[in-house]
Amino acid sequence: MSQHNTQKEVHLISRPRGVPTRENFEVVEADVPSAGGGEILVRNLWLSVDPYMRGRMNESKSYVPSFELGEPMEGGCVGEVIESHQEKFSVGDYVLGNKGWREYWTSDGEGVEKIDTKVAEPQNYLSILGLTGMTAWVGLNKIGNLKDGENVFVSAASGAVGSIVCQIAKIKNCRVIGSAGSADKISWLKSEAGVDEAFNYHDTDDVSATLAKLCPDGIDLYFDNVGGDHLAGAIDQINNFGRIVCCGMISGYNDEKPKPGPSNLFKIIGKRIRMQGFIVRDHQDLQAEFQKEMGTWVRDGRIKWEETVTDGIENAPQAFIDLFGGDKMGKALVRV
Ligand SMILES: NC(=O)c1ccc[n+]([C@@H]2O[C@H](COP(=O)([O-])OP(=O)(O)OC[C@H]3O[C@@H](n4cnc5c(N)ncnc54)[C@H](OP(=O)(O)O)[C@@H]3O)[C@@H](O)[C@H]2O)c1
Repeated sequence: MSQHNTQKEVHLISRPRGVPTRENFEVVEADVPSAGGGEILVRNLWLSVDPYMRGRMNESKSYVPSFELGEPMEGGCVGEVIESHQEKFSVGDYVLGNKGWREYWTSDGEGVEKIDTKVAEPQNYLSILGLTGMTAWVGLNKIGNLKDGENVFVSAASGAVGSIVCQIAKIKNCRVIGSAGSADKISWLKSEAGVDEAFNYHDTDDVSATLAKLCPDGIDLYFDNVGGDHLAGAIDQINNFGRIVCCGMISGYNDEKPKPGPSNLFKIIGKRIRMQGFIVRDHQDLQAEFQKEMGTWVRDGRIKWEETVTDGIENAPQAFIDLFGGDKMGKALVRV
């Protein structure tokens, strides 16, 4: 049984307009649920905060349902089983689930995965070895068909997904150009991630011209995390038959009115560009292949990753808000 009768949960209490604020969230004291027959009770240790959650805060149809107001939000989490009425899980198991933004949860085990904490730290299953790493790997290899030696541009390059994309492309002997939002991030990209060129997009009002200077041979693959001027700049500088992997377009997530698309989109035709979006959860069949390859790279020290940790579930809303302008590096995590 849990040692506590009550727990903290984070609720969305109003739908953000523009960039979310602390006022959109409430930390609520609630009863710890009890595990019934066939269920487990899990104490959360780590929560993931992710940009896609911003879309779920709106009331609109998407590939995932909107968060309900006045209910605990959901999201990736890692916790420890503290009570089990299930054969599949024992007390003391560490598990990966999707009931973040709260301290305790119950489940019948559907969609819950055991993780091996001898292989990696529990929180790594929310970053490098979890959906974050897999997004980078699927996007580059399966959607982008990355080939050895290509010229690759990555936006939000020091972020959770972007930092892994840059390093996978370097493992494949590509020339990698990254963009990010601060001098520290640029310096990390060059000295730790080993990218060939990186620029702070706040220092330029012309991403296309900056790319033209940094990619004299053009771009073969653009991994888009940002959209907006980054996407337009990449379309300008991409080579014939180039590919654009549309992973995310965070620059537009807080727009109250969508901005018009890139005015140079017509270049897709003449340059025969292939532009494709994807959702990592559609590619669960590739999980074993991903884990094997990424596990090897991690073990061999070929991939580095950063985690920016916020302590306390009550600070989860700020950790989320900071995705849109804070100075976090790599994967944003909350230690419960
Ligand atoms: N398709 C999928 O299945 C999938 C899965 C996971 C993530 N994603 C998408 O991938 C992208 C990266 O996600 P992540 O989890 O790795 O987040 P992240 O990159 O760790 O965090 C977001 C970063 O985006 C940058 N950013 C925020 N607002 C920006 C703006 N207006 N213009 C340019 N950059 C901005 C910030 O870094 P700077 O300081 O560099 O600006 C921020 O740290 C997001 O677009 C996300 O929605 C897609």
